[in-house]
Amino acid sequence: MKTENTTKFIIKGLGGKKTLNGKIEVSGAKNAVLPALASSILFKDKFCISNVPDIKDVENINILLERLGASIEKKQGKKYCIDTNNIKLTNLDTEISKKMRGSIVLAGPTLARFGKVSFPYPGGCVIGTRPIDAFLNGFKKMGARVKIEKDIYTVSVSKGKKLKGANVFFDRVTVTGTETLMLAGVVAEGKTILKNSAMEPEIKDIADFLNSCGAKIKGAGTSTIEITGTGGKLLSAKNKIYKTMPDRIEAGSFLILGALTGDNLEIINCNPEHIRILINILKKSGVPIKEGKNKIIIEGNGKLKNKNFKCVDIITHEYPGFPTDLQSPMVVYLTQVNGQSLVFETIFEGRLNYTNELIEMGADIIMWDPHRIMVKGPTQLKGRELSGPDLRAEFAFFISAIIAKGESVINNVRYIDRGYEQIEKRLKNIGVDIVRIKN
Ligand code: EPZ
Repeated sequence: MKTENTTKFIIKGLGGKKTLNGKIEVSGAKNAVLPALASSILFKDKFCISNVPDIKDVENINILLERLGASIEKKQGKKYCIDTNNIKLTNLDTEISKKMRGSIVLAGPTLARFGKVSFPYPGGCVIGTRPIDAFLNGFKKMGARVKIEKDIYTVSVSKGKKLKGANVFFDRVTVTGTETLMLAGVVAEGKTILKNSAMEPEIKDIADFLNSCGAKIKGAGTSTIEITGTGGKLLSAKNKIYKTMPDRIEAGSFLILGALTGDNLEIINCNPEHIRILINILKKSGVPIKEGKNKIIIEGNGKLKNKNFKCVDIITHEYPGFPTDLQSPMVVYLTQVNGQSLVFETIFEGRLNYTNELIEMGADIIMWDPHRIMVKGPTQLKGRELSGPDLRAEFAFFISAIIAKGESVINNVRYIDRGYEQIEKRLKNIGVDIVRIKN
């Protein structure tokens, strides 16, 4: 859509001052709501979900479901109810699926319920090649055939047959790979054992809800997940509602922003436990952080200086390690603290390219190889025009623009709107000078 691409944000930087104050609320987690919406395909009655963030990815997943034949009611208070009983089609819409990697999570439950699914090579943030071998190998192990024609994958089981439980060992820990095979195993015939699974909290969160509706999933949130399939029998929500858990990446992004620019700032409706590693690292670096029930507090009282914070090495790792989705916001933090920090991005081979734009702002960053950079601080950043290559680097540019001297223009707004609902309203509320300009 033209406006989507030409809309920009203008941010006036604080020039190093720490004046952000008040409360910023965390929304429901984008990467929890996607597998949750996909799991609606496993239900014979309505699947309802609350605390759903108002973001583009949710809109797109809902369109994917509606184009399969599902009906979706938007209720009061960020709640949706999905009825999948009229699904007739099993081909995921190509245009939408190419926009977001999360679309592939629909493949598992669709294949398990209807015996067939087709989808394009999924799109999403340009942070690496992002292969789908784990999904295809898993589906084959569960008795499905995979055909590829003109970039469309068609996965199916023989007529009248069901997907079978299987033992799958993931050669690479994959979040959406774990999610889609776990969902497929729920209604497959027999037992599925997933080894070297992802342990993200979003996986355990949805598994717990599915178990309350008749699924038999053991070990979600650990590296071995055992699913006893229902042999085709669908789940029933019986008026239970799945409440989307708080977005830990939003919470971590706001905490890093607060560490750099907060005077007295509260991050509310979050779960500090889900970003334990970030809290520990920032405390080690010298940031005074207090925790309350579902909130994190930074109390500077005008006495904190970023140049007194200590440098710290960062190695991204699957949960509960340092999240790759917080790597770019953390690099902005490291440009402001005292000393040299090594950042090792172990998950994606293309997730450090955004640093060129930080260097243009005045950051001192040397790239050793596609996975490692050295960041030297403190450096004064100057505002400029910025275009993020992915959702999380886009928010990192928000942070760099807010700490910089002068004004910044941030393009690629579509990335931000994919994952951070009403972001300018929430930032304005704590004192950021930001406007959205629709050309
Ligand atoms: C999920 O992506 C998240 N997206 C990503 O968040 C997040 O960065 C990533 O997990 C890692 O935490 C959603 O949950 C929708 P992976 P996913 O499969 O599942 C390789 C955001 O900004 N791999 O865990 O696509 C892959 O190339 C997004 O919210 C294979 O080799 O990531 C990568 O190197 C960005 N073969 C590694 O595994 C496969 O079949 C981890 O990828 C699958 C993955």
